[in-house]
Amino acid sequence: MAKAKTAYVCNECGSEHSKWQGQCVDCGAWNTLSEITLSPAAKAGTGRRSGYAGDATAPRVQSLGDVVQNVEARTSIGIGELDRVLGGGLVDGSVVLIGGDPGIGKSTLLLQMLGALGERLSGLYVTGEESLAQVASRAQRLSLTLAPLRALAETCVERIVEHAAKEKPRVLIVDSIQTIWTELLTAAPGSVSQVRESAAKLTRFAKESGTSVFLVGHVTKEGGIAGPRVLEHMVDAVLYFEGESGSRFRVLRAFKNRFGAVNELGVFAMSDKGLREVPNPSAIFLSAHAGPTPGSAVMVTREGTRPLLVEVQALVDQSPLANPRRVALGLEQNRLAMLLAVLHRHGGAAVYDQDVFVNVVGGIRVQETAADLPVVLAVLSSFRDRALPEKLIAFGEIGLSGEIRPVPNGEERLKEAATHGFLKAIVPKANAPRKSRIGEMEVVAVDRLSEALQATG
Ligand code: TYD
Ligand code: MG
Repeated sequence: MAKAKTAYVCNECGSEHSKWQGQCVDCGAWNTLSEITLSPAAKAGTGRRSGYAGDATAPRVQSLGDVVQNVEARTSIGIGELDRVLGGGLVDGSVVLIGGDPGIGKSTLLLQMLGALGERLSGLYVTGEESLAQVASRAQRLSLTLAPLRALAETCVERIVEHAAKEKPRVLIVDSIQTIWTELLTAAPGSVSQVRESAAKLTRFAKESGTSVFLVGHVTKEGGIAGPRVLEHMVDAVLYFEGESGSRFRVLRAFKNRFGAVNELGVFAMSDKGLREVPNPSAIFLSAHAGPTPGSAVMVTREGTRPLLVEVQALVDQSPLANPRRVALGLEQNRLAMLLAVLHRHGGAAVYDQDVFVNVVGGIRVQETAADLPVVLAVLSSFRDRALPEKLIAFGEIGLSGEIRPVPNGEERLKEAATHGFLKAIVPKANAPRKSRIGEMEVVAVDRLSEALQATG
């Protein structure tokens, strides 16, 4: 047998070094290198070289037309919102990473998934965070049938893979990847090198055995999944579970998906019986105002494949600070700064001495530029302390020269707004239908920010 080689991996950034040194050359951290043993097979390519050309299984150049394509075997989980975010169900041999804040409901969702799969697809729930008694009592509370649910409390990845190879589950859940460690490394569980190696091992297992693997990941303060960035590259799909503390609504978002659309949203509500699907979520992200309120604008976002009505709130207030605050929750901070500059230059409203806070109601995150126009309208409405007309919606991208640019799927957004009883829509010219009305709703097409501001009267 070939002699096992060793390498040194940085616990901070996960980069690999051939010899030990005090400081990682990649990230500059001190005393973070730990030794790992590379199995001969893990060393890329080596050992395979002999007899390479004659080897029938060796890779060769082929025309894509000759490649035998495998049709992805998909299984519907039976939780519609989860199926939707995964791109239409569970794919055999896929690895899915689910990230989210503690207590958001990751463990609950995955346990409910196993419950929904029931006897159709065998599952194994590996927990590194809770005892089996805790898992069982949660399953009981979720009113799941306990007998078909198999669970294991284990944190060593080698032993997890061993058990999984014996049990042959079709779905393997590892909760959470930050608690898992490999015998190859001496670093503490949760360190970047441990997370990386353990995830790599589980990914290899998924691909070799065709098991669908779900990894739970903790989220850092910055909102990314704790651990190396490579984790996101390694897996097939990255889903984020988000929600506002205090709100019972939870949004599952596909951030990366090799088998489906990104930014697809699944909406759930947390109840005393676990997570419930919200199959028709359009209007839940509107706050219930008694009447028109200054600083509030409603937009139609289209995250993934369906339109969603979302409220944007702004608060603009005289700032005591030399550098007034600009805070964007659920939106991109830099985009807000840009929009305020455009508002000054092309809308005639100077907010440089004002604190500006913007929030998307319901804890959801809007990433598309269609939010530009509603954000500006909400800011201006708060600044002037004048509510926007009732039953008004708006969407559209704003350019640096004050032009309003079209966004995808305008018609679909307008229809959604009309269905929910909105009476006036301010939209980019190219998104407006030929007729200036959809049902009861008047559609105002605008080319420039100044026209949009005028239209709000
Ligand atoms: P959990 O799945 O443990 O979160 P995570 O794994 O993301 O850390 O979610 C636990 C939270 O959900 C906890 O605050 C209690 C709440 N919850 C309910 O409200 N109802 C339920 O039926 C369950 C199981 C949990
Ligand atoms: Mg958990």
